[in-house]
Amino acid sequence: MVVIKKICCIGAGYVGGPTCSVIAQMCKDIAVTVVDVNAERIKAWNSDQLPIFEPGLQEVVESCRGQNLFFSTDIDKAIKEADLVFISVNTPSKTFGIGKGRAADLKYIEACARRIAEVGIGNKIVVEKSTVPVRAAESIRRIFNANTKCNLNLQVLSNPEFLAEGTAINDLKNPDRVLIGGDETPEGGKAIQALKSIYQRWVPENKIITTNTWSSELSKLAANAFLAQRISSINSISALCEATGADVEEVAHAIGTDQRIGSKFLKASIGFGGSCFQKDVLNLVYLCEALNLPEVARYWQQVIEINDYQRRRFAARVIGCLFNTVTDKKIGLLGFAFKKNTGDTRESSSIYVSKYLMDEGAKLHIFDPKVKKEQIIQDLSQTNICDDDPDRVSRLVTVALDPYEACKNAHAIVICTEWDMFKELDYEKIYKAMLKPAFIFDGRRILDGLHEKLQRIGFQVETIGKKVTELIPFTASKETSRNDLQAPAAKKLKI
Ligand code: NAI
Repeated sequence: MVVIKKICCIGAGYVGGPTCSVIAQMCKDIAVTVVDVNAERIKAWNSDQLPIFEPGLQEVVESCRGQNLFFSTDIDKAIKEADLVFISVNTPSKTFGIGKGRAADLKYIEACARRIAEVGIGNKIVVEKSTVPVRAAESIRRIFNANTKCNLNLQVLSNPEFLAEGTAINDLKNPDRVLIGGDETPEGGKAIQALKSIYQRWVPENKIITTNTWSSELSKLAANAFLAQRISSINSISALCEATGADVEEVAHAIGTDQRIGSKFLKASIGFGGSCFQKDVLNLVYLCEALNLPEVARYWQQVIEINDYQRRRFAARVIGCLFNTVTDKKIGLLGFAFKKNTGDTRESSSIYVSKYLMDEGAKLHIFDPKVKKEQIIQDLSQTNICDDDPDRVSRLVTVALDPYEACKNAHAIVICTEWDMFKELDYEKIYKAMLKPAFIFDGRRILDGLHEKLQRIGFQVETIGKKVTELIPFTASKETSRNDLQAPAAKKLKI
């Protein structure tokens, strides 16, 4: 039985940091060193201001940092000393070349594999924790075989991470399952057992699934594709609800009580964001195309298209309700993180809703409790968002320090992230300070219980998946609605 005494984790990001902090807390006899090329990030991990916000993370880190949990930029030393190396580096979509925008860019994974082959000695288990295309482990093995010296013996495992940001610590401590894929050889079996013995310290045996490497790699992509597909499915139904008078929350409840369907992940919204769903679905699409499975590729591609459509549709509804023009109108945009309880903004729907509103000249006053001003400005200044007009962001975007400031003198409030604090705002105070008619667009259905109250205050409340109220020209009749869709804003957004 291989005994693991030292672990190295390459990549101190949203996955590497929390995962290894929990492993260190659960396995006091194992020394865990998390390394990264980003010195700023490592410095933050060693400080009181961790580089990422995640409920419960600070406590876990503080319980073992400096004892058996270390953060370092000395990558070679940590690799050399480790019995087991997690690769938790980023695997973004390629931004150029073949597969641009869809295939996973494996350059960071490859750099890790080459570094391990270069500086490693003795027996090591190398674990792919990053999300990778199927058969990536084979590429890693080939790099090892072509580069390793005789004093290095490496086994490669796949152990994809299923944590969700915002609930990462709970997900890591009480996972639905842990998946380990490895070689179907005696050495592969021993490596699987060694990794399994780590998780067994706190995860029940029946929740640890072992498979061959390719099933494990594909399961991660498939899991994210299924989750994203559920969101796009309910969002597609939300469009139908808005057109018919059905309420998507009621539909979701009614279908979710069917045990075969289940109630989770049936919340209509302005679409999914985050660093994973879009990139992993696109990666799957690319894989299908590369394997000459165009029908399968098209099926999954549609999940992304509905997500884009939902964001455009929501922005078009805001513009439509505001009498088809938002030019120079102040809009209080609440929430910029891609979901609550995280400060992560990668692929956040807020970015795209902001873009569409900026395209129409709206003046956005953005508030998020966990996202820094610099991050918001950086996200909105990306060339695909600001349409090569970098001045646009300084002209149109103000980052507010509190939600009341964001909404003061605004024509509308647009809720983009489901932060709990937005349910508890003093809406009477907000209403008084807004221009009239005062609109609230609830892109996350977090104010459902408050609609009556908000309407009594005087707000016009517009919410995803519920019929547009009478005031809005879109709904008047089939004819008018078609005409209204010709309105410049809607036409431009191509809904
Ligand atoms: P991240 O971008 O937050 O962190 C990756 C880190 O790796 C960065 O700090 C970067 O500096 C470092 N890095 C890159 N190349 C390096 C190298 N050669 N040597 C040392 N450090 C290097 O990424 P995140 O979110 O932690 O994701 C990591 C992987 O986990 C990705 O494949 C992602 O798809 C997957 N994943 C992410 C989840 C999430 O919720 N963020 C959930 C499950 C899987």
